[in-house]
Parts: sequence; C-alpha cells; structure tokens
Amino acid sequence: MDAPALQCHATTKHFGDFTAVHDINLEVKAGEIFALLGPNGAGKTTLIGCISGLSRPTSGHIQVFGYDVVKQFRTTRALVGVVPQEVSFDPFFTPHQALMIQMGIMGVPPNAKRADELLELFSLSSKRDAYTRNLSGGMKRRLLVAKALVHKPKLLFLDEPTAGVDVELRQELWSEVKRLRNQEGTTIILTTHYLEEAEHLADRVGVIDHGELKLVENTEQLMQRFSQSQVLFRLGRALENIPPGLPAGATLQTAQELLIPWNTPEELSAAINKVQAHVLIEDCQVRHTSLEEIFVRLIKPHSEDKETSI
Ligand SMILES: Nc1ncnc2c1ncn2[C@@H]1O[C@H](COP(=O)(O)OP(=O)(O)OP(=O)(O)O)[C@@H](O)[C@H]1O
Ligand SMILES: [Mg+2]
Repeated sequence: MDAPALQCHATTKHFGDFTAVHDINLEVKAGEIFALLGPNGAGKTTLIGCISGLSRPTSGHIQVFGYDVVKQFRTTRALVGVVPQEVSFDPFFTPHQALMIQMGIMGVPPNAKRADELLELFSLSSKRDAYTRNLSGGMKRRLLVAKALVHKPKLLFLDEPTAGVDVELRQELWSEVKRLRNQEGTTIILTTHYLEEAEHLADRVGVIDHGELKLVENTEQLMQRFSQSQVLFRLGRALENIPPGLPAGATLQTAQELLIPWNTPEELSAAINKVQAHVLIEDCQVRHTSLEEIFVRLIKPHSEDKETSI
C-alpha cells in the first residue's frame, strides 16, 4: 500500500462546547513508529477514538491507508488495532477464550491455533485457561496487546502501553513493538507521558497539548535540539539583534537575555568570548537540559517557560 498509514485533515472533536481535539493535521507513514506525547487531558485518547472509529470527529476527515474512517468504516476497522488505556476484561473468560471472542468481534474466523500463537508470543501460554481476573496486572496488559492483534492490523495504537508497568514488562513491550514493526511492517502509534519511551521507540514524535498538535519532529533531531547544554547571558544593555558569529540556535529570550547552545567546553569558551566582545556580561548561567525538562518546556506556553527554565 502506497498511501500513508494515517492522514488527519483539520480534525476537530467537540464534547458539547468543550474542544478536546482542535484542528489536527497529521500524516504518519506506513511502517513508522510514531509517539504522541502529551499531558493528562491533552486529547490523545480522544484522537485515537476518532481514528479507530470509536467516536466521530466533529469536523475534518481522517484516512487510514487512504480509506476514510467514517465513510469506509468496515475497511478501516479491519486495518486498525487499539490497545486501550484502561485494562478491562470479562473476568470469567480465560485468555484463550478472550482471544477467540475478539476474533468474532473483529469479524475474522475464530482460530484456536492463532490464539495459541498469540498467547505464546506474549508469554501467556501457562495462563491459557486461567480466569483473566487471576492474571497479574502485567499479564492483563500483555493480553490486551494480544487481543488488539487478532486480526493482524496494519496500524496499531498503543494508548499508554507502559503506564504503571514494571521495568521488565516495559522492556518486553518495547521489544514487541519493535518486532511488530521490523518483522510484520506494522505501523505503530503510541501515546505516552514519557519522552524516554518516545526516545527509545519512535521514529517521530508529536506533542499534543490542550487538543492542539504543537510540534511534530524526528525523534533524533528533537533530542539533539533539546538535549544540548545552554548558557544564558544577562546582558549589560538591550540588544536588537543577535551579535554576528554566534552559533546557530542562539536566541534573544528578551532584549537583555541571550541564550546560546553549546556542546563542548571550546564552544562554551568561544560563546563567552564572542558575547563579551560585543556587550558587558552581567550574569551567566549554564544549564543542562534533562528529558523531563524538555517535555515540560514543549508543553508550556512561552511565558511560563521563561519563568521556570532557568
Ligand atoms: N466522552 C467525553 N465527554 C466529555 N469530555 C470528554 C470525553 N472524553 C474525553 N473528554 C475530555 O476531553 C479531554 C481530552 O481527554 P483525553 O482522554 O483525550 O485526554 P488524554 O490526552 O488521553 O489524557 P490522559 O493522558 O489522561 O489519558 C479531557 O478534558 C476529557 O475530560
Ligand atoms: Mg488517554
């Protein structure tokens, strides 16, 4: 299939007069792993609901592999799998039964062998016939992923796959996500609060906040852009322009505050020399950005950003 795995065009979702998703334009290529990052209530689950057909966008349209998710719902439903944020099962079914039932729901012929393969793949074979209520939290989460895969979706959503799971299971889920993409060519879109998760897995990252997509960027570039050390100079007088010869990325935060990224001690010394050749330095602070800070900065409005960043 040549069409992108996902195209959202001006997608908006209102609940009454509340806007949960606002004018989102997004394209995800087939075979990509894309991470949607955002704080609680940002609109991640709502957007997934609109794409997977659980709810209808109020306006705009969405295509999955070129098919419209509203007009060609049956086709797109077969192409999409969703691992929901909330863990919920009928507690009296066994994992094997849960998978067989899911096949029925998804309109694929129930296939006991496929169910066993999925249980094996997610290390659940020993719990094949146990009540799902007796599975551990991590096992339940693995079963949710297995359920989402019964119909071999080409586009898989993982909504907060590692919220509240231990380190070991997180690693397991990460390798399964990579395997699905590398071996089966599955396109994967995951939501997460953790930039670290996005950094490990995703080719590209989108940041959503208050229903708006604030940024979409290649993960490596994003990390590079933000993980640099920076030096903030307070200047003896206001500048209108950035003095010449400073590294790319130097910005005037205010007329008297100049922020310069640096990577090596040589670059830091050179930055100090160049600035003081132009203007008196009243103060300077060096900082190293942590992953947490990057995320906070990405989702905060610019004015708040300045208050907290130094
Ligand atoms: N069915 C609904 N009716 C009314 N408001 C809703 C409904 N579903 C979601 N919302 C609101 O839309 C906003 C976005 O919710 P959503 O669940 O998409 O956020 P999220 O990014 O997935 O957050 P989290 O990280 O907490 O899962 C929230 O303010 C939420 O209260
Ligand atoms: Mg959510």
